[in-house]
Amino acid sequence: MANLRGGAALRAWRDTANSLAAMAPKDSTSSAKILMLVGSARRESYTRALASEIRRGLAARGARVEVLDLFETPLPQIDLALRAERDRHPDPTTAGLFRAAETAEAFVLATPIYHNSYSGVLKNALDHLMLRDMRYRPVGLAAHSGRSTQAVDHLRQVVRGLLGVSIPTHVCTRDADFTASSPGVYRVEDPDILARIERFCDELVLFAAHMSALRADLDRPKVAD
Ligand SMILES: Cc1cc2nc3c(=O)[nH]c(=O)nc-3n(C[C@H](O)[C@H](O)[C@H](O)COP(=O)(O)O)c2cc1C
Repeated sequence: MANLRGGAALRAWRDTANSLAAMAPKDSTSSAKILMLVGSARRESYTRALASEIRRGLAARGARVEVLDLFETPLPQIDLALRAERDRHPDPTTAGLFRAAETAEAFVLATPIYHNSYSGVLKNALDHLMLRDMRYRPVGLAAHSGRSTQAVDHLRQVVRGLLGVSIPTHVCTRDADFTASSPGVYRVEDPDILARIERFCDELVLFAAHMSALRADLDRPKVAD
């Protein structure tokens, strides 16, 4: 098999992204509601900068992105005794997560690498969710540190546990993929990563449109012969 390097690999990537964009049903992809969970535990976060770039890409495609930044708006630790209170949860942030998850047609999970995996604050947020929230919904995965895929690989299993469908393209960054406009304020600069984010966004809105039709088919009552 041909070994694509450097510019050739990037061109192949862009070709794939372009053909995905051409497949996208223009009307239905544009209004997808997407819930993005950002799982860094610090203010000066590369993960947040990566998530912002993804958000820009999704918004440029017309998606409505709701962001829950788990550092800026921390969720309390899950209390299973309150699970039955889902519709009238006493904590406003948790209640907000439930409301956003219930109407989301797709998800983005962005996390730093902590101890070879994704962060605990993100796991806490995911543990709050129920199967009905993510069932047959596409999930885009992004992680920061050393371009490691450890966190996104682990998240693929978690997403499957919630009956979600993780999209094939993930985005994994390292510090050198960013520039800092001031200390701690980062922006993705690496052209390969920017191209990958484009492909990620094309894929996510395309999957969101098709999977919403798929869910409608699956949920339609079967007519007896
Ligand atoms: C508890 C903890 C564990 C970490 N473990 C790893 C690790 O296993 N591999 C790695 O590459 N970086 C690891 N890091 C480094 C972070 O991934 C890195 O600082 C990253 O920039 C954090 O993301 P943020 O900038 O979005 O906060 C760890 C950091 C912390 C706080």
